[in-house]
Amino acid sequence: MRGAEHSGYRHSRHAGNAADVHKHAVLAWIMNRLGSAGGPLCILDTHAGDGLYRLEAGRRHLISRLREDRHRSPALEPYRRVLDAWARSAGEETYPGSPLLLRTLMGADDSLLLADTHPDAIDALRHRFDDDPRVTLLDGDGWAALEAWRTDGCMRGLALVDPPYDSDTDYRLAGEAMIGAAARRGPGVCLCLWYPLAEGPHQAMLDTLNGALAGRSLHAELRFPPSATGGMRGSGLFIVHPPDGLDAAIPEIGSRLARISHRSDTGWRARG
Ligand SMILES: C[S@@+](CC[C@H](N)C(=O)[O-])C[C@H]1O[C@@H](n2cnc3c(N)ncnc32)[C@H](O)[C@@H]1O
Repeated sequence: MRGAEHSGYRHSRHAGNAADVHKHAVLAWIMNRLGSAGGPLCILDTHAGDGLYRLEAGRRHLISRLREDRHRSPALEPYRRVLDAWARSAGEETYPGSPLLLRTLMGADDSLLLADTHPDAIDALRHRFDDDPRVTLLDGDGWAALEAWRTDGCMRGLALVDPPYDSDTDYRLAGEAMIGAAARRGPGVCLCLWYPLAEGPHQAMLDTLNGALAGRSLHAELRFPPSATGGMRGSGLFIVHPPDGLDAAIPEIGSRLARISHRSDTGWRARG
């Protein structure tokens, strides 16, 4: 289905920023935990992006501080191992987006479905993933992909939902899509939504999600000064059917990242 509408958003200017690092560190922890549970895992990345980005100098600094952190927080280890392996094989000037991070951590029997609407993202993904039989590319709408997603034949599932939020519509669509997907999935399927802490639009979405999914979800935010990401006040994750142990790992990841990046203003809220 080539040629679905795309917003024009490109992730390259955000890649490897504090919000990306927060999202990917939690994603790596979840992958590591689900991967150790045994049996095939079905993975969906609804808004996959290009998969690989050039790192700006300031962000390169954050990533090397993280890799060199002597504290070795256990909750950050899965992400740190991915960054280390990446730097060793590809150098320190590029950063792996969610598709490459997921592929690095997936097993031989797992499957990964990557969706994006931007032709350049699809071309980049095709170039990087065409030779991997575990990976399927969908040149089309991630919301529709989430609705149609099949996890039959898998013991467990994981969906990353990471839209650009370049219009308020994405907040509404994200809320509806997460509630719809949670209604169709049992506790073996983890749904992970990332959102930016903006001046207000995320709050109505969170109220809706918390109202519908309290008791089955976990919600965590990492706040940082506006200068860190060009006006964004922080990074949020709303996770439905979190794997056991994530409620303890998520604050550990947040406070360690805040230390590493010298940001003291962390504000965590967890539910579920
Ligand atoms: C925030 S970026 C994804 C970053 C990526 N998940 C990562 O962590 O490396 C959002 C992506 O969504 C894509 N996109 C926008 N609207 C979409 C839609 N309706 N369906 C699928 N992808 C879409 C954009 O082209 C962009 O590549």
